[in-house]
Amino acid sequence: MRLDTLNFQARLGLSGFLITVILGALSAATLIGLLYSSQTSGFNIPDINKVKAKYSDPMLVGSMKSSMYEYVAEDGDIDIIAQWIKDGAKDDEYFKEEVMYIIEEDCQKCHSRNSTMSKAITSIPFSSHEDLMKYVEGGYSWTHMAKTAHIHLFGMSVFLVIVSLAFAFSSYIGSIKTLLIGLGWLGLWGDIASWWLAKYSDVFAYVISASGAVEIGSVIAMSGLCLLNMWFKLPAAVLEKNSD
Ligand code: HEC
Repeated sequence: MRLDTLNFQARLGLSGFLITVILGALSAATLIGLLYSSQTSGFNIPDINKVKAKYSDPMLVGSMKSSMYEYVAEDGDIDIIAQWIKDGAKDDEYFKEEVMYIIEEDCQKCHSRNSTMSKAITSIPFSSHEDLMKYVEGGYSWTHMAKTAHIHLFGMSVFLVIVSLAFAFSSYIGSIKTLLIGLGWLGLWGDIASWWLAKYSDVFAYVISASGAVEIGSVIAMSGLCLLNMWFKLPAAVLEKNSD
């Protein structure tokens, strides 16, 4: 069985699915671009420092560079907190005088057990050294990783297997099919494994970006090529011989 020999209705149904997958991949790429850049619209190239902030910086530092940045009085405050964590996050003079001063000034109006601010977050209080210690670990915690990884792995595998199989039954040369199908799965595993590994080395922030691009790129390429194969006559050079 080949894609180009399917009847009209089968091609119609499969095309609807593949077009939807392409649109889904493009919206995922848009979201990633927006989350990891300072823009609020359009397609954006992710900023590697923001990727690092999410996956490898300690949560306290990462949040000050990203979601909580608007409350940081001076950029230097982030360096002071980062240095304190690097030096072991001890309950010492530096903590009491430098770190706690910044937390009191910038963060405690919301991050305290009895804050009455409208945007307050009483469940994440920063009142003591003990409170802060929960947020000095770098990268994803076990719970966060397990939660995000399983949803992503199950979700992605379902449509990746359908796209892979459709592409496997296309008329393209075998090596093109093997390459794109292999890249799709390697990209998925590389991306998710690196969410975890970025805790241990910054290098994996680059692997996250590269494998994410490979994953999205191969899914769009496979879907697009299947659509072409079903509806257009293609040059013989890209097709497998005797593809009947
Ligand atoms: C105006 C209120 C407000 C201020 C000021 C504020 N936060 Fe938050 N913060 C929140 C809320 C609400 C959440 C939970 C929802 C969210 O993540 O946006 C949160 C979540 C967090 C988290 C949990 C993880 C995350 O990024 O979502 C961290 C860590 C954090 N804040 C750190 C800080 C630090 C450090 C400061 C001071 C520089 C600060 N916040 C100042 C309201 C505030």
